[in-house]
Amino acid sequence: MKIKDFAVERWMDAYENNCEINIAESCVDSLVLEDLICISSQNHHKSNEAVFQMKKKEFVDDLFNMKLTYGAIEGSDRFKKGIASLYENVELNQITVTHGAIGANYLVLMSLIEPKDEVITFLPTYQQHYSVPESIGAKVHKIQLKAENDFLPDMDELKSLVNSKTKMISFPNPNNPTGASLDEEMLKKIVETARSVGAYILSDEAYRGMNHEGKRFTTSIVDLYEKGISTSSMSKTFALAGLRTGWVCSSRDVIEEINKLRDYNHISCSMIDDYIASIALENKDKIIDRSLDIIKANVKIVDEWLSENPGFSYVKPKAGPVIVLKFDLDMPSKEFCKRLLDEEGVLVIPGGTLDIEGHFRVGIGNNTNDLIEGLKRISRFYKMI
Ligand SMILES: Cc1ncc(COP(=O)(O)O)c(C=O)c1O
Repeated sequence: MKIKDFAVERWMDAYENNCEINIAESCVDSLVLEDLICISSQNHHKSNEAVFQMKKKEFVDDLFNMKLTYGAIEGSDRFKKGIASLYENVELNQITVTHGAIGANYLVLMSLIEPKDEVITFLPTYQQHYSVPESIGAKVHKIQLKAENDFLPDMDELKSLVNSKTKMISFPNPNNPTGASLDEEMLKKIVETARSVGAYILSDEAYRGMNHEGKRFTTSIVDLYEKGISTSSMSKTFALAGLRTGWVCSSRDVIEEINKLRDYNHISCSMIDDYIASIALENKDKIIDRSLDIIKANVKIVDEWLSENPGFSYVKPKAGPVIVLKFDLDMPSKEFCKRLLDEEGVLVIPGGTLDIEGHFRVGIGNNTNDLIEGLKRISRFYKMI
């Protein structure tokens, strides 16, 4: 099996420890455990400090007394109840817990895709969605998302690509890196097309729950389609990437198929991560309040910055903590980003690693002061070129 380098991971790995200002991260500014316990202590009748001390003691006692067995193989019921609460109509046996959304996507693709199959994805995307199927030997059709269509896919193009070999339509929703979001109406059209050939839809919902306006949660594919597969994790919306915990949610048939492979490379996930993730999901609304507060404040800052920096533009994102900024220079994005790093110490992600040349990706879930400083330095760098 030959697989392409995961370009974003390579870039981050090479430079994230050698920068002064990192505004490349796609997570919402991560929580420390104290924040989590603090969040879980809010809205109680007693004073917050007393509740905090009580919750902290409970947390430490639970961890001290935890016997570290393999635990519940597919994830604890407590955690799976939290996950099920993110969907309209999902039973606990439709969920399996994984090593992040990256582990979830990998299990799904490796379990269901065969060399004779065809897969359709949208570009730009999270690279797993095409490099993994390609490494299996499947043919991947890539639909280019265009700024003039708000980075939403062309439904006629999608219809023209499906055929009896189409095994899966696979994409992140909300999208990384554009921050575009497929709403229920558009998802229904994709479902109709997938259903016409019996294809699965893998909707990587790692950024779900962070719509900037209106209802926070976009409709999940599992609540729309019998062959829909949702993957997600604690990393982005819940700001707990360090847990390395995610899940697959689908029909029981798909979960059983995935668990066959999962037995060979997971056994189970960490009991400690499962326990902490359960607390987080029991406090999901408060964590999302925090995530959206950070993101919305940062979108305002980007908008103000764009109004003063006409060399840059974007399609305003609808959801999640990543955006792509277009720059009006005749320079490859990798060169732009490497020089920005060398000359100003600012780390962003070149569009060239994300199938969107002429752009770079910025995380708007990052610490606001870092974003302000990073943008200031980008302006200075641009003026010096
Ligand atoms: C769209 C998308 N899916 C999955 C992942 C993997 O996230 P994790 O494994 O931390 O859940 C990422 C990380 O950047 C992502 O952007």
